[in-house]
Amino acid sequence: MIVAIDGPAASGKGTLARRLAEHFGLRYLDTGLTYRAVASELVARGEPLDDETAAVAAARRIDFAAMDRAHLSGHAIGEAASKIAVLPELRAALVEHQRAFADAEPGAVLDGRDIGTVVCPHAVAKLFVTAAPEARAARRTAEMQGRGEDCSFDEVLADLRRRDARDSGRTVAPLAAAPDAVLLDTTDLDIDAAFRAAVEIVDGALRSSPGASGSR
Ligand code: C5P
Repeated sequence: MIVAIDGPAASGKGTLARRLAEHFGLRYLDTGLTYRAVASELVARGEPLDDETAAVAAARRIDFAAMDRAHLSGHAIGEAASKIAVLPELRAALVEHQRAFADAEPGAVLDGRDIGTVVCPHAVAKLFVTAAPEARAARRTAEMQGRGEDCSFDEVLADLRRRDARDSGRTVAPLAAAPDAVLLDTTDLDIDAAFRAAVEIVDGALRSSPGASGSR
């Protein structure tokens, strides 16, 4: 059983995906971290972010099971990740890894930008999680300030809008809801309410595809 969760930055999709995985007894992969790990490796080696050969080589070298969320979660790495995410061969290399993760038993919840459209189009349940840019910027600002990072709401909002435009506007696998994804707008929901809504969506998808909990 595979659950695909897509949405823009700071929509709450990561928290929902992790809690859904726990709830349904599935493994969890934050695919954003795979792009961040490659970006971090390129930056550490002083390689330019548009060097596709170097990016693919980095993707093949990285041990994705050992990705360190704390190290990769910074703002600068997120920006760099969004820049390298336009490279088609890099995407192909990462998608191969992500699919292998999804296909292993007992199944998985994956979150990202192209899970329902490209990585796992046959997922049994697909959610597109979104929220108003201002709500996302407020959450992200609080998160960053909680980590001691110096940032303002206005800067974070401007960054999110830039990142949304880059992720939605790229030619390869842009951020988009799959036609069969269920939209979950978390603007006015706290995390528990959003989680209950997400569980209902997945349960509904399981009811409408009998036998799906044991398959994709
Ligand atoms: O989700 P997160 O903010 O960690 O993702 C960092 C960047 O990686 C995104 O802005 C996006 O450009 C890219 N990404 C992607 N496809 C995914 C996951 C992330 O292009 N499935």
